[in-house]
Amino acid sequence: MGKKRTGRGTNAPAAERADAPVSESMNAAAGAPANEEMNVPAVAAAVPETDGRKPLIAVRHIRKVYRMGDERVVALDDVTLDIYRGEIICFLGTSGSGKSTFLNMVAGLEKPSRGEIFIGGIPVHKLNEEGVTLFRQKNIGFIFQSYNLLPMLTALENVSMPLVFRNVDRRRRSAMARGALEAVGLKGYERRRPTQMSGGQQQRVGIARAIVGNPKIIFADEPTGNLDTNTTKDVMQIIVKSARKNGQTLIIVTHDRTIAEYADRIVTIRDGNIVDIS
Ligand SMILES: Nc1ncnc2c1ncn2[C@@H]1O[C@H](COP(=O)(O)OP(=O)(O)OP(=O)(O)O)[C@@H](O)[C@H]1O
Ligand SMILES: [Mg+2]
Repeated sequence: MGKKRTGRGTNAPAAERADAPVSESMNAAAGAPANEEMNVPAVAAAVPETDGRKPLIAVRHIRKVYRMGDERVVALDDVTLDIYRGEIICFLGTSGSGKSTFLNMVAGLEKPSRGEIFIGGIPVHKLNEEGVTLFRQKNIGFIFQSYNLLPMLTALENVSMPLVFRNVDRRRRSAMARGALEAVGLKGYERRRPTQMSGGQQQRVGIARAIVGNPKIIFADEPTGNLDTNTTKDVMQIIVKSARKNGQTLIIVTHDRTIAEYADRIVTIRDGNIVDIS
């Protein structure tokens, strides 16, 4: 089967919109028919505790083909991987290798064309929109290359957003968001808007937003892609420190080899396939 490729960044909007309601984020039109969906009650949305020997995330033969008119792009070919609780995993690959596609599948933002993804035993690939929204709100924090902060909101309000969806009351939201901002070294910046902060500061707000509800899993898509070397170090240390302290599982995708130094395992991806795990 011939593999056709397009230039980079064609899926950027999907990633950009990943904090939007899932009804907007699910890119069903771009992909092949998804696996059959199932209704999962809200109570089932939390990832159950695993015993540590079973993988927290089990990815089985996932494939993603995008169709654009007559053209088919095999973004992920056949990817199988186990990720354990508390691991820090770095996906390394060049532009167009399928890193963001992988992350978006595992985070439930897009459906694979084929294959299965289980998180804590929950078949994420089968969840319907409501199920996947609840699942993400409960279990997943996402850090973006382009920060994705809401420009009209202050740092405190941006960080509070995930808690609004979790129905945390206003006072508690504010206290938790202050704590998260302090954890990323931004005490005193609560009332700043994104335009009143540097790139590194905005990314730290993005990190605070991802960690504020203490999700079990953090995904980071090129979290330091827009930052200089020193700020990259600061930001990576904050992300890793938080993940270790809270026992979170952290999956970072990047083309930057220096980021890989922070990981327990490095997964190299090329042309939609894992070619090395070290
Ligand atoms: N929505 C889409 N429609 C069509 N093709 C897509 C779509 N999203 C991604 N692709 C293609 O799938 C392949 C993998 O893209 P992906 O965004 O996963 O790469 P990446 O490794 O994240 O690259 P980068 O480092 O540039 O972010 C690329 O060839 C890309 O053009
Ligand atoms: Mg990408």
